[in-house]
Amino acid sequence: YHVLDRRPLEIFLAQPRGFCAGVVRAIEIVERALERYGAPVYVRHEIVHNKYVVESLKAKGAIFVEELSEVPPNAMTVFSAHGVARSVEEEAATRGLPVLDATCPLVTKVHNQGKRYMSKGRKVILIGHAGHPEVDGTMGQVPGPVYLVQSVEDVKVLTLPPQDPVAYITQTTLSVDDTKDIILALEQRFSDIEGPDTRDICYATQNRQSAVRDLSKLVDVILVVGATNSSNSNRLREIGTEVGVASYLIADGSELNPAWLKDARAVGITAGASAPEVLVDDVIETLRRIGPVAVSVLPGREENIEFKLPADLTAV
Ligand code: F3S
Repeated sequence: YHVLDRRPLEIFLAQPRGFCAGVVRAIEIVERALERYGAPVYVRHEIVHNKYVVESLKAKGAIFVEELSEVPPNAMTVFSAHGVARSVEEEAATRGLPVLDATCPLVTKVHNQGKRYMSKGRKVILIGHAGHPEVDGTMGQVPGPVYLVQSVEDVKVLTLPPQDPVAYITQTTLSVDDTKDIILALEQRFSDIEGPDTRDICYATQNRQSAVRDLSKLVDVILVVGATNSSNSNRLREIGTEVGVASYLIADGSELNPAWLKDARAVGITAGASAPEVLVDDVIETLRRIGPVAVSVLPGREENIEFKLPADLTAV
């Protein structure tokens, strides 16, 4: 599109997009902890995968660390939304650290499900991405060996005998389609298998993925606002690409390359579950500076899920 072309660039905003209930709760836990106990509050790992969010909390007095060993004695400590392994909980308990757990309740649900399968004598297979903190947490919450598979190929090389009773659980922010394929491969390989189908993929991930599919039918380019280490944001970009729409993951307006819009009449914007709406606004403003725009929000599923805060923060 070109500035001299009079027709404004159409911008469609996916619905829903951006913050999920688990992210809202995690950020609120840090903010309330700062109000209640005063700065500093230590947060293990980025509370949610977004620099803007992390920087805003830093400015209010949060200190982000990767390991509990970096937390001084008795300091208020928050576990991030992605969850932690039992060893981390145990380390905090041994050191007597006061802890607020911001693990998303839907991640905890997956932990519990894994533990239930394990106690029924099943070997647990986790479908997820190696190195993601949620995967480290889930692997470290379910006792016994947990077998990680990331792809259909990984299923083929699993060393478990095909008659063994197995069960699978999944990371909450996977691609619904990829996960279906992996589950199918597991079902073909194991005769005695149980699992939640794709229901471990949380409502927010599922809704944002269907919204980006709807969006892709109307636009020439998709901009996903989110961090490069955000799993659910990466999946949104992949879906756009898979359906043949040029799709880019950007942190904010400054990362927008005007060349992407050269021949575009309509641009779609969505945001990962950890990306705040101010960053979407920033992208729209950047587009507006390039030329005239017409913004509309797509109709989509309404979300009204809210998670309770830990009792320690709500007690009067
Ligand atoms: Fe929880 Fe899903 Fe958000 S697992 S943190 S609701 S992306």
